[in-house]
Amino acid sequence: MSGNISFTMIKPSAVSAGYSGGILKMIEEGGFRIKALRMHHLTEAQAMKFYAVHAERPFYHDLVRFMSSGPVVAAILEKADAVSAFRALIGSTNPADAAEGTVRKHYGKSVQENAVHGSDSDENALIEASFFFSGFEQY
Ligand code: CMP
Repeated sequence: MSGNISFTMIKPSAVSAGYSGGILKMIEEGGFRIKALRMHHLTEAQAMKFYAVHAERPFYHDLVRFMSSGPVVAAILEKADAVSAFRALIGSTNPADAAEGTVRKHYGKSVQENAVHGSDSDENALIEASFFFSGFEQY
């Protein structure tokens, strides 16, 4: 059975470009309920832990540096079949390959600066959500 929770971060370059409001609007208009929401400037250690699954990849250290370069907007999102519904809303990892009308097509600049992170599985959605938010911060 699919879960009803996904986790997202609006990435530092999209936050500093002033895209947070537009991206949150696309998310809400896409039928997601915001269950938790907060700005946070990740330390390098926190970004390393969040992306630990990519630790062996050549882009890992660049990704960690980028994700800790400024505040992100983190959110837990609720919808039926949330992980795949959210991946459909944001589009392919590389904005150049993302479908028209998706968040990454509209706001992404490159594979790294692709505007938003989205969970890739129900299991990771729960891990990522609890990495950022306590139970008291989820509504
Ligand atoms: P995200 O959804 O945050 O999950 C992992 C991130 O790694 C991904 O978005 C991209 O920003 C980044 N990423 C994935 N593949 C590459 C790559 N080949 N080069 C640089 N960054 C990548």
